[in-house]
Amino acid sequence: MVLGVGGGIAAYKACELLRRLTESGHRVRVVPTAEALRFVGEPTWAALSGQPVTTGVWDGVDEVPHVRIGQEADLVFVAPATANLMAKAAAGLADDLLTNTLLTARCPVVFAPAMHTEMWEHPATRANVATLRARGAVVLDPAVGRLTGADSGRGRLPEPSELFAAARLVLRRGAAAPDLAGHRVVVSAGGTREAIDPVRFLGNHSSGKQGYALARTAAARGADVTLVAANVSLPDPAGVRVVRVGSAAELAEAMEAERRGAEAVVMSAAVADFRPVRSVASKIKKSGEAPGPIELVENPDVLAGLVASRASEAPGQTIVGFAAETDDVLANGRAKLERKGCDLLVVNQVGGGRAFGAEDNQAVVLGADGSVTDIPTGPKDDLADRVWDLVVERLP
Ligand code: CTP
Repeated sequence: MVLGVGGGIAAYKACELLRRLTESGHRVRVVPTAEALRFVGEPTWAALSGQPVTTGVWDGVDEVPHVRIGQEADLVFVAPATANLMAKAAAGLADDLLTNTLLTARCPVVFAPAMHTEMWEHPATRANVATLRARGAVVLDPAVGRLTGADSGRGRLPEPSELFAAARLVLRRGAAAPDLAGHRVVVSAGGTREAIDPVRFLGNHSSGKQGYALARTAAARGADVTLVAANVSLPDPAGVRVVRVGSAAELAEAMEAERRGAEAVVMSAAVADFRPVRSVASKIKKSGEAPGPIELVENPDVLAGLVASRASEAPGQTIVGFAAETDDVLANGRAKLERKGCDLLVVNQVGGGRAFGAEDNQAVVLGADGSVTDIPTGPKDDLADRVWDLVVERLP
């Protein structure tokens, strides 16, 4: 693959990405711009990749590198992609080795932009990003956080571990087009916490890994992804907008707002069915009066609510639920699909170390149309990709 490096300070993070790629056996040719070398020098890229590094088209001309590098690549991944580099790519300019490579590549191309918020939001950049996406490139939205100076906002390069995950997800799809491009999807993840007092809550074991895998894989397939995350401590997936919530009520509110304009919603969060009737404002003290039993009241069913309001709020939206079952997995799953009224129900067997917190997952996906899809045990990213395959079949 080709790692294109633009002239932004985040170039230093691309070293870590390169390291991860080469350590996992990928052959990586680094093609920096001349400006990128002002941030990280040629010896670093050459040593980490084990391959020669040039920025111009006049070195090793006998090997025609300005054409060959792009033609031979299985993936071109540009990180960081600056506003200038994307403008050149959108306009089809070819004045250095990287822009030539982008013009000759016929493999998947991913841009991971990093710049100041003002530059990302400028109409010129918006138009260039739209052009690149319309031509089939995946442009990952930058992350929100600390920028070069003391300021923060949208514009950060996502964490190298998540860029690495995105690169692998795109690579393993081979030459397949980003089939979720132009679609907005919303995924919920994690587990809600229902406050008892300011320091205690009722919660569950959901780690958020499956929901994060769904968000990550959707972004790698070109989707505009919003991830509503309830109490998850995982790095934000690359290219995904993350909305953080705590309780079931907050999750319900966020989902209702975010589902508007989305073609698909996936409810993988573990939502508490009940919450304490009373949540007290001060910590319950051991020395005080014994608190007595915690009285519970039922939470609204977010998934069923999204289905009920679909016709008025989001006609045609595909809605996917998850079911965590310990016993009679399929029978309970079928009954739940009927009860919730969603289009697809991903039925997981939980308990005994399965699903919650584990790296692997397995499921049967039941469709409202009677379809049954078995997804064998494998990484959560694999399960997520299979779920998106089923969603893509149902998109308008
Ligand atoms: N769900 C929801 N709101 C709730 C409870 C669950 O939106 N208050 C959603 C979950 O996100 C999941 C699906 O409903 O997509 C099924 O969740 P699960 O816990 O398996 O089922 P429950 O409806 O809670 O039924 P039960 O606990 O009886 O199995």
